[in-house]
Amino acid sequence: MTTTLRTRVAIIGAGPAGLLLAHLLDRAGIASVVIDRRSRDEIESTIRAGILEQGTVELLDTLGPHSRARTVGHRHDGIELRFEGEGHRIDFAETVGRAVWLYPQHEVLKDLIAARLAAGQDLRFGVTAEGVEDADTTRPRVRARDADGDVLEIEADVVVGSDGSRSVARAAVTGSSQGGFFREYPFAWFGILCEAPPSADELIYSNSPDGFALVSQRSPTVQRMYFQCAPDTDTAAYSEQQLWDELQKRVPGTELLRGPIFQRDVLRFRSFVAHELRRGRVALVGDAAHTVPPTGAKGMNLAIADVRLLAEALRRLLLEDDERAFDAYPERALARIWKAQHFSWWMTSLLHVAPDATAFDRRRQVGELRSVVDSAHGRAYLAEAYCGWPFDD
Ligand code: DHB
Repeated sequence: MTTTLRTRVAIIGAGPAGLLLAHLLDRAGIASVVIDRRSRDEIESTIRAGILEQGTVELLDTLGPHSRARTVGHRHDGIELRFEGEGHRIDFAETVGRAVWLYPQHEVLKDLIAARLAAGQDLRFGVTAEGVEDADTTRPRVRARDADGDVLEIEADVVVGSDGSRSVARAAVTGSSQGGFFREYPFAWFGILCEAPPSADELIYSNSPDGFALVSQRSPTVQRMYFQCAPDTDTAAYSEQQLWDELQKRVPGTELLRGPIFQRDVLRFRSFVAHELRRGRVALVGDAAHTVPPTGAKGMNLAIADVRLLAEALRRLLLEDDERAFDAYPERALARIWKAQHFSWWMTSLLHVAPDATAFDRRRQVGELRSVVDSAHGRAYLAEAYCGWPFDD
């Protein structure tokens, strides 16, 4: 059986980018349909990163009481860079007068989904996009299949691929499912969640001879921590005691508060930017368009920044018949994307120990860390990027 649906904007992927886009379009009076192959429960329970830029929080404020970023999340006015056993605070308030919020991505997703459902959004879980057709016409189409195997065709004025790093929409834009600038790294992060209170008030990004570690947080009772590992590390390779030993030796000077570890994962490091972000009436946002390594927590924030631009471009295209902002979307989005690519790469190389690092490389790296923390300009550079570059709109 085939069902055909007609809407103005077909959005593939109910991640932060797709859901926020649907919300912003709705505020402008533009109808959309959002599909995602995952169940609502899977979307709301997958643990991802936890830092929101100030601009992200401000955009989420438009959800009204549905956004709990300011009430359940925590504002952080700085981070600590630690190296050679000493901590150096980067004070966001003092350097750039901005802040970040610690509020996990899956909580953002719960807020967005609740807001969309309350607004009567056509939001379909368990529907898998199989392809996007007719990108070069004014009636692009998404071909999808629901959980029962029935075909769903969505005809729209515009199709948006917000369907993550394994995007189906990307092929319609770049001509292949890969199609991009790509870089891999010789390390990954071993992440844990544990039942323990915070070991420190703020996040600690720690460089040590044994490799990098990040002491982050989730809530007053659950902590998130990561340490640098080889990309092919098996999550079962470490006992709980070995995990604590690995983490602790990389954060000298702070005694980590321990508790039962209830989740482990290995995060691969990749940098990717699609060769094209738009073709005809099909556009890509978020991880479908780009991936950054996790250091500096730019991934979700960058997706939200894409959506901010695209929502305005679609408003002008669909309500005012003005194509200019939609035509300019790739160029404008790419300016920020490449800044974030650079920042994520830079934070990564600043803090991690490459497997082939020489004694020279180690000393040079400490010199670079000192150049940042000893200089008001260095601290401000890092703080501005971390809190999110201001928008020019
Ligand atoms: C977290 C992840 C990051 O990549 C980061 O830079 C800071 C925090 C986190 O998951 O808490």
